[in-house]
Amino acid sequence: PFTVTLAHDGRSFEVVPGRSIAEVLSANGIVIPVSCEQGICGTCVTRVLSGEPDHRDLVLTDRQRADHITLCCSRARSAELVLDL
Ligand code: FES
Repeated sequence: PFTVTLAHDGRSFEVVPGRSIAEVLSANGIVIPVSCEQGICGTCVTRVLSGEPDHRDLVLTDRQRADHITLCCSRARSAELVLDL
């Protein structure tokens, strides 16, 4: 498991194996637009302010990977990700 923190209000949520970041946030009332849910379309791309994403998408460029993540399928290598949400 890892934690996602929302930069704008400081709330944190645990993301357990088998659930996506988008699912966890949506379950807590934070609507994340998703479409393909497979890392292909880019609908769910969000900026990462700190932490190290574990990219599982096929849509981001190497440059984008430095500070963006697809919330539908990617995860974290660090214990925490701080998102620009
Ligand atoms: Fe398509 Fe995440 S919903 S990349």
